Amino acid sequence: MSDIRNIVVLTGAGVSAESGIATFRGPGGLWEGHRVEDVCTPEALAADPDLVHRFYDLRRAALSSVRPNPAHEALARLDRAWAGGLLIVTQNVDDLHERAGATRMLHMHGALRQALCAACGARFAWADALPPATPCPACAAPALRPDIVFFGEIPYQMERIEAALAQADLFVSIGTSGAVYPAAGFVRLADAYGARTLELNLDRSEGSDWFDESRLGPAGTLVPQWVEQMLNA
Ligand code: OAD
Repeated sequence: MSDIRNIVVLTGAGVSAESGIATFRGPGGLWEGHRVEDVCTPEALAADPDLVHRFYDLRRAALSSVRPNPAHEALARLDRAWAGGLLIVTQNVDDLHERAGATRMLHMHGALRQALCAACGARFAWADALPPATPCPACAAPALRPDIVFFGEIPYQMERIEAALAQADLFVSIGTSGAVYPAAGFVRLADAYGARTLELNLDRSEGSDWFDESRLGPAGTLVPQWVEQMLNA
């Protein structure tokens, strides 16, 4: 591992599972009988804003009773200690990476504790419930929505992610099923750019075959081990 300088880490719901946040596609991954793909779309927001806002209100409220787990803490340790390039790209909308202390990170699917004005594009930190038609503090339009990338919308900061993948010597995917693009395609992009690729996941994901190496187990165990290995290489 001593030839590795630039690392891109992709995380998904599995990294927060041991904190008590349900994953999307595992057991218990349905919300009141809805698939996440059916509730979290621009069409669903337009058709039933109460349902979609309530879905995110409940998930935002649940953040106050969860804490970062050893996987988040190990990634924050890597962030502090790694002298080379590092970008942690999370698909998660919880704030557990930053609460653990990670700073070299971004939320490609948005953030629960943020509101976005659909009229003027302004963003606001948001801790409480967000009813439909809440007026925007900046432009007063009744258009605040959760700052979440819905299915059919373009994930955030794709240029920055692709630039980091192009420079990466190592791409590590943690706790994601590989079911949702474009994140599911990062392994092939990183591979095409010449990076080594490693998957840390509870079980085999849809993209496991594309990785140079897959380690199976809980993130709370595998991630601290991997970080230790990187920092001692
Ligand atoms: P999924 O629920 O699809 O996949 C979670 C993955 O984590 C699965 O492969 C599990 O096997 C694995 N897993 C579960 N517990 C784990 C543990 N303790 N340690 C390690 N791995 C574990 O979640 P994502 O892949 O993150 O999008 O889903 C991708 C996107 O789909 C989400 O960002 C979300 C959703 O729709 C938006 O909200 C826009």
